Amino acid sequence: MTRSTGYLITFEGTEGSGKTTQAEGLEKFLKNKGWQCKLTREPGGTLVGDQVRKILLSSENNELTPLGELFLYEASRVQHVLQVIEPALEKGMVVLCDRFCDATLAYQGYARHLDLKMVEHLNRLASQGIVPDLTLLLDCPVEMGLGRASQRIDAREPAAKEDRFERESIAFHQRVREGYLQIARNHPGRIRVIDASLKAPEVHRTVCNVVEPILREVLAQGGSVSGLGRE
Ligand code: TMP
Repeated sequence: MTRSTGYLITFEGTEGSGKTTQAEGLEKFLKNKGWQCKLTREPGGTLVGDQVRKILLSSENNELTPLGELFLYEASRVQHVLQVIEPALEKGMVVLCDRFCDATLAYQGYARHLDLKMVEHLNRLASQGIVPDLTLLLDCPVEMGLGRASQRIDAREPAAKEDRFERESIAFHQRVREGYLQIARNHPGRIRVIDASLKAPEVHRTVCNVVEPILREVLAQGGSVSGLGRE
């Protein structure tokens, strides 16, 4: 499907790579500059999707099979694309999505060993053929990310438990990271790998320096994105 309005930026990365912080930081930055932005996430982003997210992340659901898990991510995605992403793109907004189809390929494909072609096929169906215009892959060593994720649990919710994915082995997270890096090598035009081992403010500067010129270029070339100089 070709799309002529809006601009879709996805954030990807392993656990604790800082993508949620960076997506929030970019949203603030772009809004301050006058861009019309919508920040959303997967799994979730809709009423149904948020309920599916709870099932997917609950550490009590360790009976979930890899294929069952895959279908739940795709179910959340199709709701999200039809109810949130497509309408926002049609309005010409810059949509920032915290994880999208590449996450399914990295986690369910590369890390859970489901057939990559099948995952790509289901991704295409669920996303209605929508492909991100730009993907920022925040990359850092898995031990560093997992360390940050566990500090976050302690700091924000001392009573919280690790979710189903945070309990996976280092080898699993290593496969996720390698999978993401392979996907980035396969799509060099769309995916920018960003060093997420640096401190959050430095990563934020890099993210803004990558994104803003690209959006200005899209506007300059007559793209239909709601931003500076456009209503
Ligand atoms: P989060 O860390 O971005 O909140 O995502 C929740 C978890 O879901 C995270 O461990 C990655 C995982 N995930 C998948 O396994 N497949 C997917 O398609 C998506 C979107 C997320």
